[in-house]
Amino acid sequence: MSMTFPRWANAIPGALAAVFGLGGGVVTAGVWYYFTPSYWEVGYRPDQPVDYSHQIHAGKLGMDCRYCHVSVEDSYKANVPDAATCMNCHTGEGETGFLNNDLWRAHKNNVNLVTLRSSFASGEPVRWKRIHKLPDYVNFPHSAHVNAGVSCFSCHGDINEQKVVAQAESLSMGWCLECHRDPAKALVDVDNLLGEGKVRVTDLARVSKMLVSKEQQERGAKLAELRQIQPPDNCGACHY
Ligand code: HEC
Ligand code: HEC
Ligand code: HEC
Ligand code: HEC
Ligand code: HEC
Repeated sequence: MSMTFPRWANAIPGALAAVFGLGGGVVTAGVWYYFTPSYWEVGYRPDQPVDYSHQIHAGKLGMDCRYCHVSVEDSYKANVPDAATCMNCHTGEGETGFLNNDLWRAHKNNVNLVTLRSSFASGEPVRWKRIHKLPDYVNFPHSAHVNAGVSCFSCHGDINEQKVVAQAESLSMGWCLECHRDPAKALVDVDNLLGEGKVRVTDLARVSKMLVSKEQQERGAKLAELRQIQPPDNCGACHY
């Protein structure tokens, strides 16, 4: 018989029982915090049915996130685009799309684009695997964050540099609260309130540089005051 787990692993259930049984509230809370599943989901990167690259589209081609994620400013939930959105450029006929003929020829037989076009033709959607997912008992209004001037970068990392999207943050309760108690660090000037020029929340390259700068602390605090930004930290705001 092959051994799948090392022998010491047998001791783990016993040890956990001891912690939960004897340790009391604080230890339980600590263990529970570190063992909530999302803590482990940083870096989660499932294989997708089509190799779609944000690094090419959002990075190299400089497309705005909102071209595909159209609902980020208006809806409670963000969206992933359907094949029709991709077909604006990848129809297969260079003249009608944005792709010029040379680029089209170079990618004509790309297996991913073949999959994409057949999905579009048959009406059978591409089954993208969901990466970021909060439990159902959490209230997270996606658009409220984008409109308050929190960049996609703060929560999703440098997607513009990624060939395949991976989860950048834990999405745990501690993570939400850390920002809610000190949102200034994450605020960018979407309305040009400080007269320094508007910043697009979707311009990840610019925002990532900005947020580490010394001036940001002061700028963020001013924005929070001017816009009266006060993220909630009462249980009822985030839990039904
Ligand atoms: C040309 C269309 C397109 C553009 C432009 C685009 N995306 Fe996406 N995005 C997709 C598609 C398709 C998926 C689903 C496949 C995947 O995960 O790569 C996706 C997935 C994502 C996900 C993961 C969704 C999940 O399942 O949790 C995030 C986050 C994301 N995009 C953010 C961004 C950001 C930020 C930008 C701008 C810097 C951007 N996207 C630009 C098409 C696009
Ligand atoms: C605004 C036009 C535009 C849209 C919309 C668009 N693409 Fe592209 N795509 C391009 C261009 C241009 C290239 C070629 C880039 C290059 O080779 O540098 C490309 C290349 C690709 C490639 C081949 C490169 C590779 O990664 O191997 C795939 C696959 C692809 N796109 C998938 C998608 C998918 C999926 C969507 C929809 C979610 C989409 N594209 C939407 C313009 C677009
Ligand atoms: C305050 C943090 C935060 C900001 C800012 C943010 N997101 Fe998200 N995003 C999340 C969380 C958390 C989820 C998972 C939500 C859920 O499960 O209901 C998510 C989900 C998504 C999804 C997956 C939607 C789906 O249906 O599969 C996409 C795509 C996405 N975000 C894109 C973006 C883009 C583009 C921006 C910038 C315009 C952005 N996000 C800004 C935290 C954020
Ligand atoms: C990087 C910073 C940041 C993170 C991370 C973050 N938030 Fe927020 N949140 C904000 C800001 C800024 C606001 C807007 C407050 C305002 O407009 O006064 C906000 C507002 C909210 C609101 C109130 C929305 C409304 O309509 O008034 C809820 C609910 C909320 N966040 C839930 C969450 C949850 C749940 C998470 C974690 C999954 C989370 N937030 C993560 C910054 C953040
Ligand atoms: C800013 C948003 C936010 C606030 C405020 C907040 N929570 Fe949470 N809470 C979350 C998120 C997000 C999760 C999911 C974390 C995960 O998946 O690991 C969560 C998870 C939980 C869980 C875990 C449920 C389980 O089955 O694992 C409990 C219990 C909980 N919260 C209680 C509270 C209480 C009590 C308060 C008030 C003192 C509170 N929360 C305030 C965002 C929030």
